Order: sequence, then structure tokens, then C-alpha cells
Amino acid sequence: MRKEIRVFAPATVSNVGCGFDVMGFALDTPGDEIVLRTTQRSGITITKITGDDGKLTLDPEKNTAGVPIIEMCREFGIKCGIEMEIHKKMPFGSGLGSSAASAVGATFALNHLLELNLSNKELLRFAQAGEMIASGSEHADNVAPCLYGGFILIRGYKPVDIVTLSSPENLFCTVIHPHIEISTKESRKLLPESIPVNDAIAQWGNCAALVAGLLTGDYELIGRSIEDHFAEPVRGKFIPQYAQIKEAALKSGALGCNISGSGPSVFALSSDLETAKKVGAAMKSQLDKIELASDIYISGINRKGPKIIELI
Ligand code: HSE
Repeated sequence: MRKEIRVFAPATVSNVGCGFDVMGFALDTPGDEIVLRTTQRSGITITKITGDDGKLTLDPEKNTAGVPIIEMCREFGIKCGIEMEIHKKMPFGSGLGSSAASAVGATFALNHLLELNLSNKELLRFAQAGEMIASGSEHADNVAPCLYGGFILIRGYKPVDIVTLSSPENLFCTVIHPHIEISTKESRKLLPESIPVNDAIAQWGNCAALVAGLLTGDYELIGRSIEDHFAEPVRGKFIPQYAQIKEAALKSGALGCNISGSGPSVFALSSDLETAKKVGAAMKSQLDKIELASDIYISGINRKGPKIIELI
């Protein structure tokens, strides 16, 4: 039996503007690392967490990465002990799917360490249980793209129906992460429970067009479909300089720009790397104006999902 595995699980951009809870894509960078070890001593132990500023619990029953492992061990009658290390390499409460990356990383790692041969569809259920701990909701638009890679559409939740979408090769994502935290759990509570029919029409028109744009490689269509008539009007107000950041990104050549997940990160898509970098500088200058620190990530689309760094 293998003894130890270290995996990388990517950050994700969920919603993609119009697709609240139903669309998302994975990034090449940043991402979390998870280490799992089999031990003689039975039970599941989190031995180390780094990069979390002491914010995460070592109690596996309350930890986003611990819960999927507990559930997998229970369901598959796994008797050996499991030790886990969580290395957070992306910010919390950032809208980049930090909790999803840890949940998926743990799930993917156990599958390979113990050679369980579970499909992504089976793994998704366990990763969603981890997401539930963090955000109080089993939304899959971070966990699914993190696990499958690429762009994902969630056609339905009962049962979960995942559609993987191809996307044009030359698509680059710029993310700006302003140094403030927004809790997904709290942010979801502020969203309206119903939406006017005209907004719904605009929203499903954009969702369908975004899918068409991705599949046919129509960059202009992708760009103009990244609109949101549901969450953006509420959430945009909590992101400093949001309107200015978006305007600066579009003026610099981005195809489209919107809030990443529940924010505060904002993403923009571009059709070449040079533009993606220019967009990043323009976005950052808007936060520099109000002296709010921020990080910029420039990334291709991660088409593979998590990966094994080391397997001993
Ligand atoms: N779809 C979720 C939301 C993603 O917008 O609340 C959170 O990361």
C-alpha cells in the first residue's frame, strides 16, 4: 500500500457572471496543497495547517478537508489511520474557491493513496460535503471545476448533473484580490429570493450564449455574455472600486469582467496573455488609488483539475 501523497488542487472562478451556482472554471494558479499519510494508529488526524493565519480548525469534523475524508472512510469501511496536512496557498474569503480546493484536494488524494478508483462523479459528492461545512451550501460551482478542470456547467442539482464544456485555447484569466474578506455564507444571505422576469430572461439568455461562445470559440460572444442581473447588483457594492475596476479591465481589452464567486476577487477574461497582464495592471491601479492592497493572478484555464505532486 502507498504511504504518502501530496496533491495540488486549483483555485476556481465560480458564477462566471451569469451562471450563479451553475458555472465555473479552474485556474492554473493559485491552489492549495494537501498531504495524506496512512498510519498504524486508527482515526483521522489533521497534523498541520500552514498559510491559514490560525483561522482553520484541526478538528477534522469541522474542517472542509477533514469532512470528505471522514465520510469516505465511513462509506468504504477504511480501517487504517489517516494523517493530513493542509497547506493553504490562496487567500480565505476571497471568492477563489479556497474551501473547495481543500475539499477536492483531500478527496482526490485519498482516492489515489488508497487506490479506490472512484470516478469524479463519486468524488464530487464527498467534496460537496466539505464545501457545505465552509459555506453552508452544497453549491458545486467551485468543487466541480476544481475536480474536473476546465469550464463546468451544472445542469441540475437533484441529482447533480455535471456538463464539462470545451473552451478556446487562448483564454487567459486575470484575477484581482483586494485585501478584504467576504464570507460566502453571509454574502448568500443578502441575495434576493426571487428575481423579476426581465432579469431572468437576461440571465438565461447570457448563460446559453456563454456556453455557445465557449463551444464555438467566439471570444466576442463570451465577453458580452459575462453579465449578471442577479448577484452583481448586490455584491458589487461590497467590493471597493468595483465599477472602476470593471471599467478599467474592459477599457484595457478584457473580453468580459465580473465578480469571482461571492467576491471580493474580480476576474476578467482576455484572449491573449499580454492583454491579461495589461488588464491586471489597470485593475490594480484602481485599488492603488484608494491605497487598498491587492494581489493579481494571471492564469491560463486549468483543464486537468487536481494533480499529484508526490506519491510514495
Ligand atoms: N455560487 C457561489 C456563490 C460561489 O456565488 O455564492 C461561492 O464561491
